[in-house]
Amino acid sequence: MSEWQKSDWRNKPRVQMPDYTDQDKLHAVEAQLSKYPPLVFAGEARRLKDHLAAAGRGEAFLLQGGDCAEAFDQFSADSIRDTFKVMLQMAVVLTFGAKVPVIKVGRMAGQFAKPRSAPTEIIDGLELPSYRGDIINDLAFTPEARIPNPDKMLQAYTQAAATLNLLRAFSTGGYADVHQVHSWTLGFTESEKAEAYREMANRITDTLDFMNAAGVNGDTSHALKTVEFYTSHESLLLEYEEALTRLDSTSGKWLAGSGHLIWIGDRTRQPDGAHVEFCRGVQNPIGLKCGPTTTPEDLKVLMEKLNPENEEGRLTLIARFGAGKVGEHLPRLIQTVREEGAKVTWVCDPMHGNTIKSSTGYKTRPFDSVLREVRDFFAVHGAEGTVPGGVHFEMTGLDVTECTGGLRDVTEEDLSDRYHTACDPRLNANQSLELAFLVAKELGRLRDAQGTRQAG
Ligand code: PEP
Ligand code: CO
Repeated sequence: MSEWQKSDWRNKPRVQMPDYTDQDKLHAVEAQLSKYPPLVFAGEARRLKDHLAAAGRGEAFLLQGGDCAEAFDQFSADSIRDTFKVMLQMAVVLTFGAKVPVIKVGRMAGQFAKPRSAPTEIIDGLELPSYRGDIINDLAFTPEARIPNPDKMLQAYTQAAATLNLLRAFSTGGYADVHQVHSWTLGFTESEKAEAYREMANRITDTLDFMNAAGVNGDTSHALKTVEFYTSHESLLLEYEEALTRLDSTSGKWLAGSGHLIWIGDRTRQPDGAHVEFCRGVQNPIGLKCGPTTTPEDLKVLMEKLNPENEEGRLTLIARFGAGKVGEHLPRLIQTVREEGAKVTWVCDPMHGNTIKSSTGYKTRPFDSVLREVRDFFAVHGAEGTVPGGVHFEMTGLDVTECTGGLRDVTEEDLSDRYHTACDPRLNANQSLELAFLVAKELGRLRDAQGTRQAG
């Protein structure tokens, strides 16, 4: 068999990708991007893979979250900081509540390209090509805005580089120091869970004060003062991905330099398609969305293609079935994994199977459905004796009104107040924190039960 090449996907059927009309411009952009530095490094991707392997064994837990689609006009240091803060808060709740190390991965610094359920959109009788994310075309509803423009890849790269630069600074520059646990609270977060967070933060600072007084801070001080924060996005726009793919001299293997973890979406996981072909050849940890239409046969082929050596941490299966449907679909896929003896990390995305249209016309997600899917996910793993390895959310640190429900009840009428997403509805900071408490409870309970079972 001949060696994998980063352009091999071009010989496979492609879906959900734009047909660029200006091929000269496209080639010029690809040539330019191929000369730019990669955004992430192979050692980092391998380290994340090790962490994901631990999550697959139940020794760590993945928290993956961020925008559905990053947008050029919403790019600001404050919004990156606020999403980062909420993720740190959620991680504290999980670490403290479930006593498990949390792997923090943002849907950030590259989450620009969107698959769409329909190729066109009709508003007031006018039909135009769908918006496909800021890396491809514009959200504005005009014929010009919807033409795919290769130059937008360069702007996406620049925004991703600046985002990652800031995230790296936040992670190691003192901001993420656990002694700052109180300061991660956002001004507008007021709810029962915000109070619970404050109490938890008090207990953490008390413990730190005690450790300090007792002189036990030497070896652990680096771990307490910094976090590892990784980036991820859907590997959808393969021209961009290919241009940032580099051969890593240490391992002699290819690396997608666009982000640490890349995933294959529910609409682009055809076993013989372009997206699977691209992802199979790079050494990054790979995510694979599994939806109601994922068949055991497809999953078998996909696991073999994407992880032929059955390497732990390489493949994360992101289950997104919808509330009330997990029990119908997840067990048969767990069974397939078991039959194949495949090593995978199971993660729950309770967002994408729960999108509905509100009576007021907005695309939304009822928070109760999100919670229910998380509970169902844990229940199935509890019953099967398998490991829930993490969660995957669309969320933001902004005080938006995009998903209905939550303790500070967002109603269908409220949706129009602060509905800012460029694509799918995100959890706001309050809803994210509330969800983290639920996950911590479910995870803690399961770990206790499974621990007791192992001990007994
Ligand atoms: C997404 O994660 O934004 C997405 C489109 O998900 P899925 O492929 O699962 O629908
Ligand atoms: Co989405």
